[in-house]
Amino acid sequence: MVSTSKKTLTRVSHLPELIGQTVEVNGWVANKRSSGKVAFIELRDGSGYVQCIAEIQAMGEEKFAICKSLTLESSIKIKGTVVPNEKQLGGVELQLNDISVYQIAEEYPIAKKAHGVDFLMNKRHLWLRSRKQWAVLRVRNQLMYAIHNFFQERGFAQLDAPLLTGNACEGTTTLFETEFYKEDSVAYLSQSGQLYAEATAMAHGLVYNFGPTFRAERSVTPRHLSEFWMIEPEMAFYDLDMDMDLIEEFVKYIVNNVYENCKVELSILERDLSLFENINEAFPRITYEEACKIITGEKDIDGKNAITLFEQDLAEVQAKVAETTAAIAETEKELTTPGLKKGKRNYFQSKLDKLKVDLKKYQASAEEIPQWIASAKSFPPGEDFGSPHERAITRVFNVPVMVYKWPKDIKAFYMKRWEDDPNYVKGVDLLAPEGFGEIVGGSERETDLQALIDGINHHNLPMAEFEWYLDLRRYGSVPHSGFGLGFERAVMWLTGVQHIRETIPFPRYYGRLFP
Ligand code: 4AD
Ligand code: MG
Repeated sequence: MVSTSKKTLTRVSHLPELIGQTVEVNGWVANKRSSGKVAFIELRDGSGYVQCIAEIQAMGEEKFAICKSLTLESSIKIKGTVVPNEKQLGGVELQLNDISVYQIAEEYPIAKKAHGVDFLMNKRHLWLRSRKQWAVLRVRNQLMYAIHNFFQERGFAQLDAPLLTGNACEGTTTLFETEFYKEDSVAYLSQSGQLYAEATAMAHGLVYNFGPTFRAERSVTPRHLSEFWMIEPEMAFYDLDMDMDLIEEFVKYIVNNVYENCKVELSILERDLSLFENINEAFPRITYEEACKIITGEKDIDGKNAITLFEQDLAEVQAKVAETTAAIAETEKELTTPGLKKGKRNYFQSKLDKLKVDLKKYQASAEEIPQWIASAKSFPPGEDFGSPHERAITRVFNVPVMVYKWPKDIKAFYMKRWEDDPNYVKGVDLLAPEGFGEIVGGSERETDLQALIDGINHHNLPMAEFEWYLDLRRYGSVPHSGFGLGFERAVMWLTGVQHIRETIPFPRYYGRLFP
């Protein structure tokens, strides 16, 4: 008789619901330690981690010997009973009865000791398996799901823009150029889907674009990728206020969604949770001009002054440098104690390693903060914000802050001019706290045909290539607005990782095309 039962895979994430049952799980060895009669295997299967206890009595000698022989990242199938253990991440562990091996892995290049980032980036195809990297990309996945839900629930249609484009959206300095069939025909990799989203919004009212975008940024910063994903909604009949309302509702929604669904990941990442606790407060909205005054210390917010706070941060971090230096000396002295037992030695050594990492971090801050202070104090109004300026603005708030009404000259050609103040435009940036900076850029769009033509000329953009875009103002032009959330910037912020290259499986940035 033909069996009609479907083959199913039990995953680690299912185990908390299977307490008391015997299960089969496939996975990789994330960690292993063993003594005479018992081995602890930490199994990961992509959905989570579970501790497996292998005892010679339960498994028999032959299978137990296999458990002891496992190398890091060996691939295995185990059979065992799910038992509760509150100390473990998922609240359960497995008592093994059986094991079989898919492959015994060769010596794994990513050992426990600290590797340089270059080494890890060269091994990105393997580094992805590490606990922290796994957690970051799980948050990325949840965030993507939440974003689609948010817009689909509100009747937005996803209508993606092309990636090969004929015109620049965000200025000509960061364009990637490629041949389009004929040698004399150039295509650019899209910097933003916005212009196309404006066109689809005139057909569907509420739309969004969610795809990769490209910027040739010729420097390595912790916040710039050459290829990054952007989520770009575009709304017919929305003005700047409605745009800001939507940004706020959207960001609150996705942050709350990640908080609810990524508890394990956030705990692996040791993310400071105050972000999630504060997120439902109203996001302050300040003009560019007010923001300038906060930066230079001319304006306080609820008695908080950006420069004074920086100075306090500096004093705190300097105290930490002194404290940690002393603790390092103390621990080094402990390590020289004659006849120190192996266990104690390991304890002091790992304490020392951790202290040294901390010290580096504090020293870096102690060097950086004076630079932020100098840069903030001397900020010339009219210019675009750099990282120290964004840090100063966000330092006086607990939640992301919206900066709107920007000087025309530092913003893109398509932003609508302020009616009674034509040197300003209806643009808005959302700045995230804790140094994560600009995560959203948006605006109400210019609807006046002549103003757009002037803008295109002013930015020295080729008029012929924008003719199709100008048609949108010739045939049923309406007020409309939109914004772009930098997807990897958002992942960085929510996970708390300090470099954007860890927020995408295979990052592309200046100097990095492999693996
Ligand atoms: O502020 P930007 O340049 O705005 C636009 O492209 C608009 N056309 C969006 C729109 O209104 N539809 O980029 C939007 C966001 C930034 O706030 C930032 O978060 C992110 O995209 N971003 C980058 N992220 C990673 N690497 C880069 N090189 C980035 N450049 C911008
Ligand atoms: Mg921007």
